[in-house]
Order: sequence, then C-alpha cells, then structure tokens
Amino acid sequence: MSLHHLTLTNFKNYQSLEADFSTRINCITGDNGEGKTNILDAIYYMSFCKSFFTSLDSQNIRHGEQFFIIQGQYYFDGQTEEIYCGFEPGKRKRFKRNKKEYERFADHIGLIPLVMVSPYDINLIIGGSDERRKFIDGIISQFDKEYLLHYQRYTKILAQRNHLLKETPQTWQIDEDMLQIYDDQLAESGQIIYQRRKNFVTEIEPIFQRYFETISRGKEKVSLEYQTTLDEKPLGQQLKENRAIDLATRYTNFGVHKDDLELGMSGQPIKRLGSQGQQKTYLVAMKLAQFEYIGKLCGQKPILLLDDIFDKLDQSRVEQIVNLVTQNNFGQIFITDTSADRIQAVLDKVGGEHRHYNLKDNALTPII
Ligand SMILES: Nc1ncnc2c1ncn2[C@@H]1O[C@H](COP(=O)(O)OP(=O)(O)OP(=O)(O)O)[C@@H](O)[C@H]1O
Ligand SMILES: [Mg+2]
Repeated sequence: MSLHHLTLTNFKNYQSLEADFSTRINCITGDNGEGKTNILDAIYYMSFCKSFFTSLDSQNIRHGEQFFIIQGQYYFDGQTEEIYCGFEPGKRKRFKRNKKEYERFADHIGLIPLVMVSPYDINLIIGGSDERRKFIDGIISQFDKEYLLHYQRYTKILAQRNHLLKETPQTWQIDEDMLQIYDDQLAESGQIIYQRRKNFVTEIEPIFQRYFETISRGKEKVSLEYQTTLDEKPLGQQLKENRAIDLATRYTNFGVHKDDLELGMSGQPIKRLGSQGQQKTYLVAMKLAQFEYIGKLCGQKPILLLDDIFDKLDQSRVEQIVNLVTQNNFGQIFITDTSADRIQAVLDKVGGEHRHYNLKDNALTPII
C-alpha cells in the first residue's frame, strides 16, 4: 500500500500542490518554513482524519481562504483507491473513499496504517509519564477495541472516584460503599489494561533493542521497561490496602494511571543522562519498533514519515537509519531534511529506489 499522488488545496501554506511519489523512498528537502512538515501532515491527515499537530481544523486552512481539501491516490494490491478530505468551517468535515462518504471517521482509521516520527515526539523521552502512557495506549487501542473500552471505562470511573474523594466536605462523610463499587470496577478494567500493556512492552522491547543497537552500532546499552505497581499485587488489593492514604490525600494514588515506561541508558534514565543525539536515537528506535508491531498486526507495511529526524544525529547514525529503512521490511517512506546534500550523499551510498524533491516557493522540483 502506498500513496502515489497527492493534491492539496488551501492546506496550510499550499494554495495548490500536486505531487507524485515513489512507492519506496521519498525525500523532500528545502529551507526552514518552506512547508516540508506540512506535506507530511497532509499525509498523516489522510490516515487519521486529523492533523498530527492540531485538533483545530480551521488552523489548517490557508490564511485568508475558506476551506481546505486533501486528496490522495493510493495503490492497494494493484488497485487505486482515492481518499478525499474536505473541511469548511461551520460545516461537517467530509471524508470519502472512492467518492463514497464515511459516516464515521472511525471506519476509515486503520485503512492506511502510518507511523510518524516528528521532532515533537521528543516529549515521549523528556516529558512526563502521561506522554509515555499516551504512546502505549494509542498503539494498543488502534487494534484492540476491547482495550479502548476498558481504558475509557477506567478513565471515567477514576474521575468519579477522585471526585467523590475530593468533593465530599468531610472525610468521615465519604460514602465507602460507593468507593467500593468504584474500586471493583477500577480493579476489573485496570487489570485488563495492565495485562495488555505488559504484553505490548514485552513484545516491542526486543525489537526496540535490535533497532537501537543497529543505529548506534552497539555504542550504548539501553533498556525499556514497563513500570507498574500491578506487578506486585492485583489492583483490587492495592486499592483496599491503601484506602486510608487515598482518604487522607483525597486522591487515587494507585492504579494504571500511574504506570510509566522506564527508558534507561547505562542504568540511568535517558532523560537525564542521554545527549540529544542519543535521545533522538532512542526515539527513532522506539518508533521503528512501533512500525514493526503495527505492521505485524495489520498485515501490511505502514507508511513511515520521518520528519527532520537527522537533525542532531551524526553521519554514521543517519546512514544506519537510511540503511535500515531501505531494506525490504519497510514500505513507503517520506523523509524531510533541510540539507539536500546530506540526504543525497546517503541515498547515493545505499542505493535503492527513491525520489528526491526540492521544495521552494510552495513547489516541489525533482532533483535528478
Ligand atoms: N494555515 C496556514 N496558512 C498559511 N501558511 C501556513 C499555515 N499554517 C502554517 N503555515 C506556514 O507554513 C510554514 C511552515 O511550514 P512547515 O512547518 O511545513 O515548514 P518546514 O519546511 O517543515 O520547516 P522546518 O525546516 O523549519 O521544519 C510557515 O511559514 C507557516 O507560516
Ligand atoms: Mg519541518
């Protein structure tokens, strides 16, 4: 599955853009602010029915215009599929596949699997634990609807439990029978969330290790571990044993909403010890592990968007990444960079089918 033609109308900085792409490697190079990331965002949009950057669709309309349209022609097992997305403020967003409009966006998401690696993802490494939970939950729930239901249920009950703990005027007035009902429901959904997260981390950890080792040429030792109190005791028991603490703090202190991924390098958190290049390597390895995991689940190679990933990486790591993604277990790839020479030098070295475009004044020009 690959995108072979893209048409943009009034999308961000593009009044109109037409582009053809290779089914394998596509490089877009150009100066800062030319619109490289915006092209990737349009491709992301066609997979997830939303921008990677904003949930406010009006921000995606070219300044001064009234609407935007993104259209893509994809090859699916030799057949062409047309995806259309149009948005005009005040009207409902329209998403079509082969001219037939979707009733629910959820019916479309998953059709075109895609993994984006963006400089903004660095928050996964340096941000709070919520960023890492979001990463795990986003991937699992994409393919496991039961997980999504338990996740939503857990989040709702947790909010209700915290509300009860916080808003009851006096601690002794807190309805403990109600608390027990919440605890039972939290324990049930929490236990399922825990088990699926654990399976997920167990599965991606060796893949992550393999990618990290390749990109860094074995220079650093890293670890990726699921951190949770549910390894010690079932959630129901934890909630029961720690009720006094919850009553005193008026908050739910234990549960899967406290889980984290421990990202280590040489026994230390990479957040503290890692250089920017090492953190970036860690991030890319995690995203490639995500790519492999999703690819296995959906039975096809996701589109891979690599936005600005070579910034901060040395030539050896850049080469290793390009080497990796030009292998057959990867499909269609889009790479952006500010340096045409850097990308071209690596492409010449690794060979393989590719197209290289220069982006200037909102137009893509092939570099031969
Ligand atoms: N709604 C919009 N209307 C018009 N222009 C927009 C809109 N949204 C973003 N832009 C413009 O798009 C440009 C940014 O594009 P983009 O982020 O894709 O650049 P880039 O080539 O990736 O740059 P960099 O190399 O710095 O990452 C900015 O100049 C910004 O003003
Ligand atoms: Mg950019």
